[in-house]
Amino acid sequence: MAKIVILTGAGISAESGIRTFRASDGLWEEHRIEDVATPEGFMADPGLVHRFYNARRAAAAAAAPNAAHRALAELEQDGRHEVLVVTQNVDDLHERGGSANVIHMHGTLTGALCHSCGHRWPAPAEMAPRDPCPACQKPATRPDIVWFGEMPYQMEEIWTALRAADLFVSIGTSGNVYPAAGFVADAGHAGVPTLELNLEPSAGSRYFDEARHGPATAIVPAWVREMLG
Ligand code: NAD
Ligand code: APR
Repeated sequence: MAKIVILTGAGISAESGIRTFRASDGLWEEHRIEDVATPEGFMADPGLVHRFYNARRAAAAAAAPNAAHRALAELEQDGRHEVLVVTQNVDDLHERGGSANVIHMHGTLTGALCHSCGHRWPAPAEMAPRDPCPACQKPATRPDIVWFGEMPYQMEEIWTALRAADLFVSIGTSGNVYPAAGFVADAGHAGVPTLELNLEPSAGSRYFDEARHGPATAIVPAWVREMLG
């Protein structure tokens, strides 16, 4: 049974209507990363950060999984391959598309986290700065999102899976943000074959053994059909 580790980024959810970060109309054109996606930004203006993620949460809830999410779920459910999806996305479209084995390395919009006691609970639709933590009652709630300058989740588990994989596939990510951008090199050093599926060549395109370019809803289902053919 081949072990396949699949990294996904904003591009896989683009055709579900969720904005990417670095496109010309991307989120980082309108918002300063330092203001809305760092612990310092949250300390300076928690209301602004909550409004930013409340809007992302509403957009994700209104979106539906697309053919690329569903194809990855089909690859896993088929059972012939051991599939792990490692996503940088904070939406839950992989799960709603049917994937079960998913790691959210940058956290998730559906989670709330207390930055005082570390308690986690399901996020309400709208979060606000003075919301008390249900465990310690302190007004210290934040979205369970990994911000710039923070450690992505489950890195040891990801690297262990990556080194043991028979194939590494990167889908819909620009290859600008580490450590995810380094997975292609990590896989390469471990002798794992690598494939990029992205709208256009990513920053790390040349490090992949093979790269195919086009919209995810076309090229991901086509690749899955090959794997299951
Ligand atoms: P970075 O790679 O510069 O790392 C930040 C800090 O963590 C550094 O001190 C680094 O040494 C340390 N670190 C990172 N990975 C480590 C590892 N595996 N083991 C030990 N130490 C490690 O990252 P950054 O550009 O500051 O971003 C941090 C993460 O937050 C990125 O993965 C980024 O994508 C994520 N992020 C998420 C969102 C979001 O909205 N979902 C927004 C911004 C950033
Ligand atoms: N099909 C396939 N790929 C697409 C599509 C599509 N329909 N639309 C866009 N793309 C590609 C773009 O060409 C780009 O290379 O998806 C990529 C999206 O890149 P980014 O917006 O940079 O998103 P991502 O790589 O996920 O960002 C990484 O940065 O800001 C942080 O934490 C945030 O998780 C995010 C991380």
